[in-house]
Amino acid sequence: MPKHISRLIMLLVILGVVAYAAKQYFTVNSFYEFGHYRGNSVADMASNKPKFKGSASCKDCHKDVYKQWSEGIHYNPAAGKVVKCEVCHGPGGDRGTKGMFDHVSTGPDHPQNMKMIVPTDTVKLCVVCHEQIAGRPAQQKQIVIADHAGTQQCTVCHNPHSPLTINEAKPTPPIGNVTAGKADVDAAGCAACHGPTGISDGLPGPNLAGQNQPYIMAAFRAYKSGARSNDFMKDIVANVKDSDITDISAYFATQSCKSAHNGDADAEAAGQKLALASKCATCHGTNGISRQPVWPNLAGQSKDYLVSALQAYKNGGRKNGFMTKITKDLSDADFANLGAYFSNAKCQRDGAE
Ligand code: HEC
Ligand code: HEC
Ligand code: HEC
Ligand code: HEC
Ligand code: HEC
Ligand code: HEC
Repeated sequence: MPKHISRLIMLLVILGVVAYAAKQYFTVNSFYEFGHYRGNSVADMASNKPKFKGSASCKDCHKDVYKQWSEGIHYNPAAGKVVKCEVCHGPGGDRGTKGMFDHVSTGPDHPQNMKMIVPTDTVKLCVVCHEQIAGRPAQQKQIVIADHAGTQQCTVCHNPHSPLTINEAKPTPPIGNVTAGKADVDAAGCAACHGPTGISDGLPGPNLAGQNQPYIMAAFRAYKSGARSNDFMKDIVANVKDSDITDISAYFATQSCKSAHNGDADAEAAGQKLALASKCATCHGTNGISRQPVWPNLAGQSKDYLVSALQAYKNGGRKNGFMTKITKDLSDADFANLGAYFSNAKCQRDGAE
């Protein structure tokens, strides 16, 4: 036999032996137990440590949070809708990372050796399920972020564990310079329509005294951007620098308010009933002092202004997701009653005029 042929045969034999040995070495013993399946894999998987522990596992150690959550809108097993703890906080356990097959029952667990993630950017978290997008089924409640929350975190208003519980903000001192604001207000001539201290008393503009600063700023910027339009305000805002708005709003927000008191008693009573039924208080408080500073106080505003604002939301002249929805089913008579109620309300938290 020629030398090169015998070498080739030798090589093939060696390869055969190596291949057979490799097969013996790498194939798990239980491989042929159930045909071409590894007999032990079921037990292997069953002993694999779960990463997700389920919400019930959190109950004993986090009683208060668990109670809020299980009574809240994110826990609705009857409808098959449950937003589990670990959806927002990440898995409560982990598998080991020691080696290829070591993961089976090692790895840290919360609270030993493992901290849960506490979501800080709730805008990013919550909009995964709640941002309005075309094609998302209407059953899933959706929001237009900018209109609904501006740039605020969702947790400013929503308790993440019971999202229909709306938080009330603690009053905070205004930002900006009140004295500089006064000078800007005088220079711009706001007093002609809003009064020198923001009490308009029969002038064409609404009261601004004691109004929430973030709301005044947002309203002013809305006129500037054209999102809100009004013939009186159009020319005014063009002449005010964006950088002056903080000081101007600080000035008006710190002035003492004065209730308009121009609704009659019967209308006021009807308005109070309707305000309760329409849940105005969720945002504007029971007496028209709003629960978050981005929402306007209504207390003390004149009846006519309140009615004109409500009509504007209904007919599309003013746009806001909340108010458009709320005014849709209310009539002009309802608006008149609501206007009477809030115009008679005390304009400060402590009940002062
Ligand atoms: C055996 C008791 C126990 C269980 C079970 C438990 N936790 Fe905790 N959890 C703790 C303790 C103790 C702390 C505080 C210490 C820490 O921050 O690690 C804590 C802290 C937290 C924190 C706050 C962490 C921080 O950095 O502020 C979150 C969030 C949390 N747990 C979520 C959960 C969730 C979700 C579950 C269920 C999957 C769960 N926990 C199950 C005991 C437990
Ligand atoms: C929809 C998302 C979401 C779900 C579901 C959720 N959490 Fe939270 N959780 C948060 C957010 C956001 C925070 C941070 C709150 C803050 O910054 O005020 C938080 C904070 C916490 C904290 C620490 C602060 C505190 O309030 O005590 C604990 C503990 C906690 N969650 C446990 C749980 C447990 C247990 C569950 C399930 C019963 C759960 N969470 C379900 C979003 C969620
Ligand atoms: C994994 C998806 C998911 C995430 C993340 C989530 N939600 Fe929800 N949310 C739901 C579902 C589903 C419902 C509806 C439950 C039902 O209809 O019973 C709901 C209901 C709500 C509701 C009540 C809507 C209504 O009027 O019926 C509010 C408010 C809400 N979520 C706010 C939040 C906030 C705030 C966050 C972030 C902290 C958040 N959600 C995170 C899925 C989610
Ligand atoms: C300034 C306060 C505020 C902020 C910030 C806020 N919400 Fe809301 N949200 C509310 C109020 C008030 C309601 C109405 C609750 C009610 O009807 O009882 C609401 C309702 C909702 C609803 C139900 C909408 C519907 O059609 O019924 C969803 C979903 C929701 N919010 C999600 C979010 C998410 C996600 C964020 C963060 C991007 C967020 N919210 C930020 C105040 C706020
Ligand atoms: C020529 C009269 C006039 C002048 C001058 C004027 N405003 Fe107004 N302002 C109005 C009227 C009218 C409204 C109500 C418009 C509407 O219904 O949208 C209004 C509304 C506002 C609002 C919204 C209030 C709310 O409750 O929504 C703010 C904020 C405001 N003005 C600030 C100012 C500031 C600051 C100045 C001075 C730089 C000023 N205005 C000057 C007439 C005026
Ligand atoms: C879910 C929150 C929410 C509820 C509930 C709500 N509002 Fe509002 N309201 C707002 C927001 C936000 C604005 C400011 C919108 C804008 O920028 O134009 C507003 C503005 C108003 C204004 C204009 C105030 C001004 O100074 O221009 C009036 C009037 C008003 N709401 C009346 C009501 C009445 C009456 C009810 C009950 C029938 C009600 N709102 C229920 C959120 C709410």
